[in-house]
Amino acid sequence: EWSEILFKVLERKELAPTEYEILVEAPRIASKAQPGQFVILRIDEQGERIPLTVVDTDKEAGWVRLIFQVIGKSTAQLATVMAGEGLSDIVGPLGKATDIENYGTVLLVGGGVGIAALFPIVKGLKEAGNRVITVLGAKNKELLILKEECAEYSDELILMTDDGSVGQKGLVTQAMEEVFQRETITMAWAIGPSIMMKFCTLTAQKYDVPIYVSLNPIMIDGTGMCGGCRVTVADSIKFACVDGPEFLGEEVDWNEFVNRMQQYRPEEVLANERYEK
Ligand code: NAD
Ligand code: FES
Repeated sequence: EWSEILFKVLERKELAPTEYEILVEAPRIASKAQPGQFVILRIDEQGERIPLTVVDTDKEAGWVRLIFQVIGKSTAQLATVMAGEGLSDIVGPLGKATDIENYGTVLLVGGGVGIAALFPIVKGLKEAGNRVITVLGAKNKELLILKEECAEYSDELILMTDDGSVGQKGLVTQAMEEVFQRETITMAWAIGPSIMMKFCTLTAQKYDVPIYVSLNPIMIDGTGMCGGCRVTVADSIKFACVDGPEFLGEEVDWNEFVNRMQQYRPEEVLANERYEK
């Protein structure tokens, strides 16, 4: 039956409670994907389209590495796909790649499962010759994913947890303050929950440092046609799937973004309840 499957899951691993990593065989995407880009996959032909950042690739082996958190019906279903099984389709790479160049000293901030989307940027900026300072934050030690991978490509790594179970107790914005006070940072990135990215933007603005954020609104087609991923940036309408996902934090209309993120919450809860039955 799996002979009809186009995209095989080569490996599957639980990274943290409710967070999973899969390696998917997709050689053409692996050969092209750049840091900052994403894919949209479907588990089967009736499936919802799930956008996920490409965390890493292996061009020779032909796989892409994806990390997701179980947050609703479709991600719960994705967590049941085992190694050796497959996905009906995966399209990409989508979105604009991160502007990787040598800026000097850069600050990279990742929160929760957003660390997965930050990692390829950490790696890309380090390989481009930057001095990389990375701040990772999560609720607790178990949820602080990709510590070793980020450490490998960072000149300095600061860990923050809400409960103090690893690193310092506090928010990522506290670590940002501490870094901004002692370093000249040319460029910053923040990826995580919307509220975190909003406050990271305010913190960077205080020190006049430009900061990129990666927006993850609801996406359907991923090609700029459905309008589902509409965001307001610098007072104009942009589509996160084609114009982003990265935008300058200071230009994002955060109130609109946070509101739109909650728009389908009742339907999402209902779909999940039906699935769990
Ligand atoms: P979380 O809620 O545990 O937050 C992670 C860290 O963000 C915290 O430990 C804290 O340091 C920081 N943070 C949170 N609120 C903050 C505030 N008000 N001020 C300063 N810092 C704050 O993270 P989680 O549960 O893993 O996050 C899941 C969310 O991340 C989902 O909403 C998902 O949509 C989003 N997400 C975003 C992206 C993206 O590309 N932007 C990618 C994956 C997930
Ligand atoms: Fe449809 Fe972006 S996902 S326009």
